[in-house]
Amino acid sequence: MTHQIDSSAKQNAGAPLTGFWYPALLTSDVPGGTMKAQMLLGMPLVICRDKQGGVAALRDICPHRAMPLSFGCFDGQRIECSYHGWQFDMTGTCRHIPALVEGSPLNPEKIGVTTYPCRDQDGYIWVYIADSQGIPKTIPDVPRLPVLSEPFSRLHISTTLKCTIDNGIVGLMDPAHGPFVHQSVWWRSRDSIHEKAKTFEPIPNGFRMKAHAPSRNSGPYKLLGLSGPMTTTIDFILPNLRLELVQAGRWWISTRATVTPISPEECRIDFCAAWNFLRWLPFSKTLFRVFARTFLNQDSRVMEQQSVGLKHSPPMMLIDDADTPAKWYFKLKAAYLTARQHGGPLDHPLKEPVTLRWRS
Ligand code: FES
Ligand SMILES: [Fe+2]
Repeated sequence: MTHQIDSSAKQNAGAPLTGFWYPALLTSDVPGGTMKAQMLLGMPLVICRDKQGGVAALRDICPHRAMPLSFGCFDGQRIECSYHGWQFDMTGTCRHIPALVEGSPLNPEKIGVTTYPCRDQDGYIWVYIADSQGIPKTIPDVPRLPVLSEPFSRLHISTTLKCTIDNGIVGLMDPAHGPFVHQSVWWRSRDSIHEKAKTFEPIPNGFRMKAHAPSRNSGPYKLLGLSGPMTTTIDFILPNLRLELVQAGRWWISTRATVTPISPEECRIDFCAAWNFLRWLPFSKTLFRVFARTFLNQDSRVMEQQSVGLKHSPPMMLIDDADTPAKWYFKLKAAYLTARQHGGPLDHPLKEPVTLRWRS
């Protein structure tokens, strides 16, 4: 075994980070006056939207006898539990208990369901999952998809992965699987493997692959390159965000992928893209969607297959330099937890810009 191989990182042990916003559902999943159940970090949630568009996230368990509230009905203001008809408003307060007689000493408003901070942004309904220190006085902003100019097109697609959050994120930042997993005539082939050197720098809660010219072997980028010299910048930010911004002249495409833990064995990748070029081309959005869907399906299939091996909890390896970003992720996560626990600044694993070299 060489010194480059690091099998000590506990790649399966990690619980998801809390104290962050996670995308729970698509905005379009919950029209006004409706509710929808969704698991997030293993917690059952019900997300409802009033007629004015306001959203709320409640724990999907009735405090009376544990019936999921999402089996009941929602009239745009209150959820009525399907079992004994208790009614809860969107702040989680119990407003009505049908079984109570006139003059009953029990005040329904003393009973409540846990609620979670909830916001609608960039086409997703985000829920803030607090850590053990509770909800802070000022909650950080919901992460925004960077857009450089108006107007632009946007799309969202998702796929579920049978894996833990850490394996999902390592998959997100792994540069060496491209030529094997994402082979296609119009993207690239395995024969196109060549050596790359990319410089990374630390950013708050993450690291950035500095602006560089994208792979010359990546077909669709050639189109964008018609507008001038092209650069791409890729950020990874805790707990689960990968942002990529490609610019060429006045054309740009901004993408965000998040890996969200649904349960301990299942994650969902939400991919969101905004772009301002080829908007005049008929079906350009459909083309983009097909392209992104193909890509995500390839990742999803390979992780489905990997899960067959992962069931045996084998030790795994992270090699230099191709898996170095994955090593940074584990270190960053540990440093974040230490900083939260003991206070003080995050001890960032990257102290200065670092150039990594690999073949892909
Ligand atoms: S379980 Fe919900 S009202 Fe009884
Ligand atoms: Fe991939």
